[in-house]
Amino acid sequence: MIEVKRPQIAPSVLSADFSRLGEQIQSVVQGGGEVLHLDVMDGHYVPNLTFGPLLIKAIRKMTDMVLESHLMISEPDKYIESFIKAGSDIVLVHPSTCGSVSDTLQQIKTLGARAGLVVNPDESLSIVEPFLKEMDQLLIMSVVPGFGGQSFMPEVLNDLPDLIPELVKNRVLLEIDGGINVDTIPSLHHSGINRFVAGSAVFNKHDSPANNMKALLNLAIPA
Ligand code: DX5
Ligand code: ZN
Repeated sequence: MIEVKRPQIAPSVLSADFSRLGEQIQSVVQGGGEVLHLDVMDGHYVPNLTFGPLLIKAIRKMTDMVLESHLMISEPDKYIESFIKAGSDIVLVHPSTCGSVSDTLQQIKTLGARAGLVVNPDESLSIVEPFLKEMDQLLIMSVVPGFGGQSFMPEVLNDLPDLIPELVKNRVLLEIDGGINVDTIPSLHHSGINRFVAGSAVFNKHDSPANNMKALLNLAIPA
């Protein structure tokens, strides 16, 4: 059960400069960041490879931010314990990768983290309905998972209005991931989204992560 009073921006380190990661994380904190989104990819469930628990353990030493691990991997059940031991506060899994979705959610919670499910653009939001009482968080992908810097797909939200009352009733935090930037956030006001993942809109050459965070946070809160 997660209570969020105002929309949050969760920067994804996928687009960060890993040669100065500590500095970049300090900058997002300066800009008001509270949650760091960690995109774990195995080159199998998605056609890209990133990092695993070793890097998360190092990041855990760098910051007190809430660490949210988005597991884009096959057979996550095998690795959940190591991600939580490394310091993940939240673990998000794709239902199709779980042996039993209920068991996976339970495993995450028993190990002391918050548990969430992720829905891809080619999946129906209805796949999470049986688990609303067991999950803390729903992450809707607004791009095909695998890479940062893709364009936002507005159609993934077509069926969301019907689900919102159920999410509210079950106190499930609603998050969106992919193509979030200063142009797309304003269209999401009043959508019921509590947390916006942003990678390339936070870590880029145009401005510092702190300034990019501030700009996104200002736009996330309806005027
Ligand atoms: C995509 C990842 C996203 C990605 C978002 O598979 O799950 O978290 O980093 O990147 P942007 O914000 O650049 O679309
Ligand atoms: Zn992600």
